[in-house]
Amino acid sequence: MNGHVVVTGGAGYIGSVLTEMLLAAGARVTVLDRLFFGDTLADLMRRDRLRVVRDDIRACDPALLEGADAVCDLAALSNDPAGELDPRKTMEINFEGRARICRLAKRAGVRRYVLASSCSIYGFQDDVVDETGPTQPLTTYAHANARAEEAVLGEASSRFCVTALRQATVYGASRRMRFDLAINGMTLAAHRTGRVRILRDGTQWRPMVHVHDTSRAFLCALDAESETVNGEIFNVGSDDQNLQILPLAERVAAAIGVPFVADWYGDPDHRSYRASFSKIADRLGYRTTRTPEDGAREVAAGLRAGTLRDGPETRTVEWYRELIRWHTMTREVAMNGAIL
Ligand SMILES: NC(=O)c1ccc[n+]([C@@H]2O[C@H](COP(=O)([O-])OP(=O)(O)OC[C@H]3O[C@@H](n4cnc5c(N)ncnc54)[C@H](O)[C@@H]3O)[C@@H](O)[C@H]2O)c1
Repeated sequence: MNGHVVVTGGAGYIGSVLTEMLLAAGARVTVLDRLFFGDTLADLMRRDRLRVVRDDIRACDPALLEGADAVCDLAALSNDPAGELDPRKTMEINFEGRARICRLAKRAGVRRYVLASSCSIYGFQDDVVDETGPTQPLTTYAHANARAEEAVLGEASSRFCVTALRQATVYGASRRMRFDLAINGMTLAAHRTGRVRILRDGTQWRPMVHVHDTSRAFLCALDAESETVNGEIFNVGSDDQNLQILPLAERVAAAIGVPFVADWYGDPDHRSYRASFSKIADRLGYRTTRTPEDGAREVAAGLRAGTLRDGPETRTVEWYRELIRWHTMTREVAMNGAIL
């Protein structure tokens, strides 16, 4: 991929890794992001092929998309609890905002569009579920993903190639670090206290994927023949990383060399799903390259070296709550006159 790619949410946890990967592959990248988590791409700005535009997907100038070859649409309130802070805003951003970007891209003559969706739309499933199986969105975040998928896939045409990637739960180090994700949170707690934090009751299934691997899936989708990916949904991950939370926590503890002592938190998690990753493997030849142990070791090493820091901005819902509180106190007018 060596054209011009617009990455919405490109300063985020996955987006910043994807942006660096696109630059390394020779692409010119325009990042469109509200920068809620700060200017995480500052150290990449020396590259003349990167432009960062601080704006909102709901209101940005359509001219931003002119001349682009592809759009990777990642901007969102990015997890279930953040999605419940203000369900109306979540639908506005995660569904309508991304549907808007897709329509604008098509109108601007962009040839490819890739949506960052989530396996969380499977909600609760007894059996392993593939892309043709039933979805069961249990939260506003998951509903918004389902609506966004429907809207953007409806725009697919012979001249406009649209793909939705349902990503597993991501782990690993990034410039915009997230310790609210299972493996990263377990690693942080083990590093700090010697106890692994586990969301009750640990029997729930969750597919996992490393942030580097999920970013590679976007490049795979951009590079694939249009006939293979147009109008298609792909689960992103690997069959061997459908994991139950308790044994996963034991693996994380072993990987970073702490004795396994569980620190339970939260109410029982009602989401539990295993996904099939055969389609992306068979059609795109996609294979994951990293394991939960790799992720845990890399995060622990970053914490020890001080390259990864645990701050309020690393917990998505708490940080959004903080931004809203700060906005209410100072009456500082953010974009659109509102913080979210
Ligand atoms: N991290 C995961 O485990 C995971 C799993 C499945 C799907 N996803 C999806 O992948 C995408 C990226 O997730 P992430 O983990 O990088 O999240 P993130 O919160 O780190 O990144 C989202 C980015 O979007 C930006 N943003 C939010 N609202 C915006 C708006 N209205 N206009 C412009 N920018 C806005 C934020 O500033 C942030 O930089 C999201 O769509 C998320 O739902 C993530």
